Amino acid sequence: MIKNICCIGAGYVGGPTMAVIADNCPNIQVNVVDNNILRIKQWNTKDFSKLPIYEPGLGEIVKRCRGKNLHFSNDLEHNIQRADIVFISVNTPTKKYGFGAGKASNLKYVEECARQVAKFAEGHTIVVEKSTLPVRTAEAIKSILEASQNKNLSTFDVLSNPEFLAEGSAINDLINPERVLIGGDNIDSISILNEIYSQWVPKNKILNTNIWSSELAKLTANAFLAQRISSINSIGAICEATGADIREVSRAIGSDSRIGSKFLDAGPGFGGSCFKKDILNLVYLAEYYGLKEVADFWNSVVLVNNWHQQRISKLITKKLFGSLSNKKIIMLGFAFKANTNDTRESAAIGISKDLLAEGAFLHIHDPKVNPDQIANDLGIPQNEANNKEIFSEEGRWYFVKDIYEAVKGADAILVITEWEIYSKIDWLKVSKLMRKPSWVFDSRSILIPEKVKESGLNFWRIGDGS
Ligand code: UDX
Ligand code: UDX
Repeated sequence: MIKNICCIGAGYVGGPTMAVIADNCPNIQVNVVDNNILRIKQWNTKDFSKLPIYEPGLGEIVKRCRGKNLHFSNDLEHNIQRADIVFISVNTPTKKYGFGAGKASNLKYVEECARQVAKFAEGHTIVVEKSTLPVRTAEAIKSILEASQNKNLSTFDVLSNPEFLAEGSAINDLINPERVLIGGDNIDSISILNEIYSQWVPKNKILNTNIWSSELAKLTANAFLAQRISSINSIGAICEATGADIREVSRAIGSDSRIGSKFLDAGPGFGGSCFKKDILNLVYLAEYYGLKEVADFWNSVVLVNNWHQQRISKLITKKLFGSLSNKKIIMLGFAFKANTNDTRESAAIGISKDLLAEGAFLHIHDPKVNPDQIANDLGIPQNEANNKEIFSEEGRWYFVKDIYEAVKGADAILVITEWEIYSKIDWLKVSKLMRKPSWVFDSRSILIPEKVKESGLNFWRIGDGS
């Protein structure tokens, strides 16, 4: 009988996943721990709209469960001690140095978690890999745990249970998953985790595999999804060159049930914490096993994504007469997609840096991203509005609160994130405020071309060669 769950890592994955488990398993105490004191303080905030991550529906669940069977704290030791199951949900950034630098995941946090579990666990503990990990990580976790097994009479089992939630729809993805994947070699431990999920997931959607297949399936799912985006963006470039329209091409190929209609939206290039990292892990794995052609194949998905983002920056520069020096550009959206405040690997970062390097004065708007986060991502502090003697506007950026105020005298507007509010902009009003000739660049196909053009603005949108 499972009474206590501990999840290490109160991030985008750990927080929502544990909230949904707590909501569906009222008899289990779910304790989410994190070594970041501020993050835990934010999870315990009185104002449920101010949780550390923005995810539709999350606030209501936390409100229902927090203090009852969902708890957030920094107390790792006590919560590991009493846990029957420990989920490891810490981040696994790409290695910056050493073997596999730039490709392999840095597992130092995961390893540290395994050591902490080995140190504090009592009795039998099931350790579940929730973080996306390179194939065969479970082996490393197992050896760390086994090394301590005899010392304090504790025993362990390791399972892989990768997360398929997408940010922005995480709560729905968790409540109605298309599948739950549980990999492992101990049938009893697998049944225990199966039982927890079956509180709200139909049994036929819970898949059991061996541990390596589970780890590889997660990397493969993300690699396939990312591959579709690089594929459609590459065809978008051909559309622009030939007079075709990517939306029409997507619709035509998406009606073939073998291809399917999802994940065929051309955009500014994929972002998010997973896609690039997971593909690079796959590339590293293939190289490690001497499969060079396989490694090159998957690496090209990332190369096309990088190229595509630069293609957008170059195109903007070209349309604005080859120079952005002191030109005012409004960037609408900074998150890597709508309905999240996450900016990790967002196309906005690379494109902003390119535009700033060309001398643009960038005004950035996003309804959920905090300006400090943008400063951190760009490595450039925000321009001080009243401090123009110190900062020239060239190559500087400014955070926008009011879009209509910001567009005064602007040369171009670039839509990067598909936030719904941007599709409701009054283009006639905007047009009157901008400096002519002015451009609108829609990298997400969320604007109605006629409305923008009728307002006297030049218009470009992704994959539109018509
Ligand atoms: C997830 C997955 O777990 C990761 O494998 C995937 O590659 C990216 O998505 P995510 O939840 O999005 O990670 O990461 P993040 O929001 O950064 O949360 C991780 C949390 O773990 C942070 O709050 C961090 O403070 C915490 N952490 C990290 C610890 O508590 N202890 C550590 O040793 C390291
Ligand atoms: C992804 C996977 O979908 C999820 O299953 C996994 O667990 C974590 O990684 P996430 O990164 O949250 O989820 O977002 P996702 O919706 O997959 O989008 C990733 C990127 O692709 C975003 O930048 C998005 O804008 C872009 N995208 C998506 C497109 O450009 N076109 C599309 O048609 C779909």
